[in-house]
Amino acid sequence: MTNNVDLSIDFCGVKFKNPFLLSSSPVSNSAEMVARSFDAGWSGVVFKTLNSDRLPIIHPSPRMHCIHYGAKQEIAVQNVEMISDRPLKDNLADFLYLKKRYPDHPIIASIMGFFADEWVYLAKVAEDNGADMLELNYSCPHMCIEGAGHKVGQAFQLLEGFTAAVKEVVSIPVIAKMTPNITDMNEPAMYAKNGGADAISAINTVRGISGIGLDDFVPTPNVFGKGAISGTSGPAVKPIGLNFIASMAQNEQLGLPLSGIGGIETWIDALEFMLVGASTIQVTTGILHYGYRIVEDMIEGLSDFMAERGIDRVSNLVGKALANLHETEAFDIERQGITHYDLDRCIGCGQCYIVCQDGAGQAIEWDAQNRRPNLIEDKCLSCMICSFVCPVPQLITFKEMPTEWNRQETAVMDKNLEKDVKLEPFTKEGPNECVI
Ligand SMILES: Cc1cc2nc3c(=O)[nH]c(=O)nc-3n(C[C@H](O)[C@H](O)[C@H](O)COP(=O)(O)O)c2cc1C
Repeated sequence: MTNNVDLSIDFCGVKFKNPFLLSSSPVSNSAEMVARSFDAGWSGVVFKTLNSDRLPIIHPSPRMHCIHYGAKQEIAVQNVEMISDRPLKDNLADFLYLKKRYPDHPIIASIMGFFADEWVYLAKVAEDNGADMLELNYSCPHMCIEGAGHKVGQAFQLLEGFTAAVKEVVSIPVIAKMTPNITDMNEPAMYAKNGGADAISAINTVRGISGIGLDDFVPTPNVFGKGAISGTSGPAVKPIGLNFIASMAQNEQLGLPLSGIGGIETWIDALEFMLVGASTIQVTTGILHYGYRIVEDMIEGLSDFMAERGIDRVSNLVGKALANLHETEAFDIERQGITHYDLDRCIGCGQCYIVCQDGAGQAIEWDAQNRRPNLIEDKCLSCMICSFVCPVPQLITFKEMPTEWNRQETAVMDKNLEKDVKLEPFTKEGPNECVI
């Protein structure tokens, strides 16, 4: 209990003291690292994906690149890292060490095989050496071999078969980790469920290219003159993660617990994932940016939020936004609004005027003498882009208008032309052009 609120969560019958877990990646690569993360406050770990030692793993060099945007560093990380390059016995010895020293911190073993026997072998040795759960990695974005990584996440029957093979030999709960490199995650998630998966985690990294070197035209990370499409993570992918978690949480047929991943850096990010249905959350890039101690802010921020609102158990927040998540056709488009300007706080930068002129309704006149925007209310589209660029927080807000209020239609420039234009009724054969 922190702040008199209960952050503990039951995930497939496994108890976590808070919802915050390390995701499988360099941040969870060894017992030494994981022990420090537990001391910082993380409640559990999805260990770096185990390698069965069948093939030696050598990571490309360099193995990461990142995107900075304006003043914000690392809005995305691009990686071509492989699964663990450590011998299996070292990783398993780490499990035993962590179980002994941190018995209340669950260990989730991430595994990835190339064929059913290898999946089964890794699952068995992980369970035998103390793993509390398994996460089946169906989602590594840069695997080139058919039947492995994200290619399994896109080959549904294979995914079901591997899940069933693993479930047959272990008694600990099994999570299927999904690739976002697909349109609808519900379909593979249902196959995972049919194979016996107890939970779903998402997302792994999104296939992308973080940049191209302008001197040599090599996509980044530049691995000695060669680039590759690889995995993007970090704040830039958060909307994609939220989308997949929400759509699976809405699927009553699926009905499995969800672990949310993708761009989580703050307690607010974590809470948003929980509100759309995740009961645990996992983090990599946030730690690559700030280190393990971000969990302190996550614990404090979430506890304060709950205490302020009188919410005593974090589990009560899971899925709470889903009732408000609809298809766009459910919107009440009879209700309309405009922007409202608190001009007393305006600093006269003029950015609102520029974007309204060039990207919106030309609803602002610029008072050059006083350096102030003058909103022509009935031309405002309520797109809100002026509020996105205004440097003063909350200076520009949304205001609902009365139902009888009407927005001006966007005018045709040449009124004389308008009366000469005839629009032919639509026909399949065409040409469906304006005739002047
Ligand atoms: C360098 C790097 C290595 C990763 N390695 C693995 C891995 O071995 N197994 C796995 O399931 N996911 C791996 N991931 C994916 C992360 O666990 C996570 O799903 C993804 O990065 C999105 O979360 P984030 O935005 O918090 O980083 C890796 C990510 C990064 C950045």
